[in-house]
Amino acid sequence: MIPLIRGFRDILPDEVKIWQHIEKTAKKILEDFGFKEIRLPVMERSELFARSIGENTDIVEKEMYTFPDRKGDLVTLRPEATASVVRSYIQHKMYAQDPVKKFYTIGPMFRRERPQKGRFRQFYQINAEVFGIASPLIDAQLIFIITNLFSRLNVEDSHVHMNSLGCPDCRPVFTKNLLDFIARAAKNLCSDCLRRHKKNPLRVLDCKVSSCREAMFDAPSIADFLCNECSNHFAAVKNALNRLDIKYVVDKRLVRGLDYYTRTTFEVQTGSLGAQNAIAGGGRYDGLVKMLGGADQPATGFAIGFDRLVEIVRQNKYKLSAEPDLFLAALGEKSIDIGFELVCALALKGIRAEMDFSDKSLKSQMKLADRLCARYVLILGEKELEEGSAVLRCMSTKEQKAVAVNGIVENIKSIINRKCL
Ligand code: HAM
Repeated sequence: MIPLIRGFRDILPDEVKIWQHIEKTAKKILEDFGFKEIRLPVMERSELFARSIGENTDIVEKEMYTFPDRKGDLVTLRPEATASVVRSYIQHKMYAQDPVKKFYTIGPMFRRERPQKGRFRQFYQINAEVFGIASPLIDAQLIFIITNLFSRLNVEDSHVHMNSLGCPDCRPVFTKNLLDFIARAAKNLCSDCLRRHKKNPLRVLDCKVSSCREAMFDAPSIADFLCNECSNHFAAVKNALNRLDIKYVVDKRLVRGLDYYTRTTFEVQTGSLGAQNAIAGGGRYDGLVKMLGGADQPATGFAIGFDRLVEIVRQNKYKLSAEPDLFLAALGEKSIDIGFELVCALALKGIRAEMDFSDKSLKSQMKLADRLCARYVLILGEKELEEGSAVLRCMSTKEQKAVAVNGIVENIKSIINRKCL
């Protein structure tokens, strides 16, 4: 046997049902809010991620699957989707006529992190990205979309954490103060923080090592350094969330692990998953389109950790009605042939019908129907068929009735929708 690569996994049919349900619900909400699906490659030039996520981030320093392709060009399996969406927005000059664009994309990402519960090396994200809208209202709307999706999925234990990271005008004043604080706290910081704090001091606020967290407890808060524009923007996001009745906490330590953020950043956290408590993260990245060679367009977005969301929905013992509406018990070869066509015709009408093709006895087919929790069984016996009828049995009430083979699809459909014989 050649086993799976560590941190990669199979998603088996029973679990896939939950994935499909979440994906359907997410797409519906996103499309209702004007998002269009975009599908992007899983591999890009390495420099795209290094430049956008930032050279001194954990993702770029330690976690990317980067390798030279056969011609020696460095390529990377995408660790996130935002950089690719921005690349595509620029490459197709989508800002040319109307810069306002809203995209969503769902798919696998790759980060070579240490695998643990809720953390995989191939994981999936539901991404939403908005270009060309500077208004704080859209930041609030993105958070609303996430919380709305979570409530439709009965995810109860989730909390919105928010912060503002300022802009290129006000952040440098903050980072200077932060660097002064870090210099005083240096003796208690881990080697990673000591190595990279000069290039990226915000990372120190985000470090999970407990001695770093303690040492940074009284670190300056960016909220005290925001310029008027950033401060007003943040106040407007909070105000809009209040109007939408969305609860949030302002978390001055929330700096996110990617460098492109400006102003609003947020994370949705849960108590249901242990250490990997972030189920979604996002924020504004107003400078990224320009930095990667496009027009100067504001942008904002989020990514939901699909695997983590599935785990919560699964823990909630979410029951999916995957049972067949109807099991077709065909007796004899002629009945199997007719039954086969009937199952296909019913599927076209949206009725979930199943059958066994191996000419088993009625008793064993009834047992199978029971095991599959079919709501109805349609018995197609050769003798009844000759008479132009079949028997429909409701599995919960045990009632039976004859149905004419002529017009049977419509007949069954109306019975199933009526939910009684
Ligand atoms: P992120 O915080 O790196 O943000 O990832 C978003 C979500 O992906 C996390 O909250 C988590 O649920 C999930 N996730 C991340 N790593 C793993 C992993 N190894 N295993 C399982 N799930 C994981 C971004 O990726 C940004 N691109 C979000 C964004 C979009 N910002 C603006 N637009």
